[in-house]
Amino acid sequence: MKILSIVGARPQFIKIAPLVRAIKKRTQSSPSLIKHVIVHTGQHYDPQMSDVFFSELELPQADYGLGVGSGPHGRQTGLMLSMTERVLLEAVPDIVVVYGDTNSTVAGALASAKLNIPVAHLEAGLRSFNRHMPEEINRIVADHVCDLLLAPTPTAMKNLKMEALSPRSVFTGDIMYDAVLFYRELAKQRSQIGERLALKPHRYAIVTVHRAENTDDLNNLKTLLSIFNEIASPDLPLIFPIHPRTSQRIHDELSDWQPQPHLRLIEPVGYLDMLWLLDHAEMALTDSGGLQKEAFFLGCPCITLREETEWIETVQGGGNILTGTDRRKIRAAMTRWQALPKPRDHNFSDAATASFGHGDAAEHVLDALIHFLEGNDNTSTDTLPHDVMHLPPPLSRKRESGCG
Ligand code: UD1
Ligand code: UDP
Repeated sequence: MKILSIVGARPQFIKIAPLVRAIKKRTQSSPSLIKHVIVHTGQHYDPQMSDVFFSELELPQADYGLGVGSGPHGRQTGLMLSMTERVLLEAVPDIVVVYGDTNSTVAGALASAKLNIPVAHLEAGLRSFNRHMPEEINRIVADHVCDLLLAPTPTAMKNLKMEALSPRSVFTGDIMYDAVLFYRELAKQRSQIGERLALKPHRYAIVTVHRAENTDDLNNLKTLLSIFNEIASPDLPLIFPIHPRTSQRIHDELSDWQPQPHLRLIEPVGYLDMLWLLDHAEMALTDSGGLQKEAFFLGCPCITLREETEWIETVQGGGNILTGTDRRKIRAAMTRWQALPKPRDHNFSDAATASFGHGDAAEHVLDALIHFLEGNDNTSTDTLPHDVMHLPPPLSRKRESGCG
């Protein structure tokens, strides 16, 4: 059986890691059982946006590197589409897996669907219901052209049902939860970022910004930067690993802007450093999808610098507050998080388990791929109890679907 994974952007290198480990484990006695081919589109290419994840997460080198690089959406997606098509014709996989919601995802999904190669979407069913987000378009297109939809949460299952996609959907749990549970210990052992930045545990906040709405929109970017400058203090320095998109915008459009000394801009960090930073931060302020979840899994209170979130469970679970770029809301959320005891005596892990699975999503993904290829695809919600939102814990429901 040949599985071909298409990745290209930072969060996808993290999402593929638990699946690589699950395949390795499953094929220990018989390595030829599953061949896993990895295609790297080259959407992210700086060493700190790509290589660092391959080495830290011990990913095998990609079998194909498309080297597409940056560019406007149409050109970047079009190049990926045409180059992926060539790879698929050469590699002839039994099934393709695409991850998340980037241009690499939609290009891989379309290229496979047009060649009638079965394609699975891992992290299917996410919706912000904001069609101005490029990611929302990517998700909708990917979900509608893919044959197998691997949903990380009950909410994602519900969204797929609303779009009449239940017959193709399987609940797996969230593979990023697997990653956090596995790599958190390694981060404790290996990360030296705390010493390197001389950080006091629970006395700093971690900040990331990269969404189009907060970077392409200069007003939003200016507002956020001025808020960060206002709130950074000796008692709460802000650690800001800056995404290349954001540093580019500041360089091109806001060259007069200066961070004050307690707003500490650093290069993007590796995954282990990021987990360490989240594990020890007083709070996170971010517009990243992945960071919202990781903060939640690690019990780090989060402020999401967006108007909506696809990961609504983090808000419902009491670990995340949506503020957009509203100064007043950001300050109010900070006050709320600063009132929590230190060191943390809270965690959100019960809520995480109820919504995101049990840290074995990769196993369920692999089962679903195998069942699909065996023509054993009885994943229709016809076999599932009625309304997924009312059925904790989610993984037991998945087992009932015949894929556990
Ligand atoms: C992309 C995804 C987004 C995801 C994010 C993860 C799309 C439409 N967006 O956004 O969903 O949340 O990745 O980080 O697919 N750049 C570099 N070096 C790199 C990569 C990018 O300098 O290694 C700069 C380039 O100036 C580039 C810009 O960042 O134009 C944006 O990169 P791009 O991959 O187009 O989008 P992201 O903002 O990274
Ligand atoms: N991340 C990282 N270093 C950084 C910023 C993010 O390792 O400097 C990780 C983060 O922990 C998460 C993933 O990258 O696992 C999220 O990527 P990003 O925020 O770029 O994209 P999104 O999740 O919003 O699509």
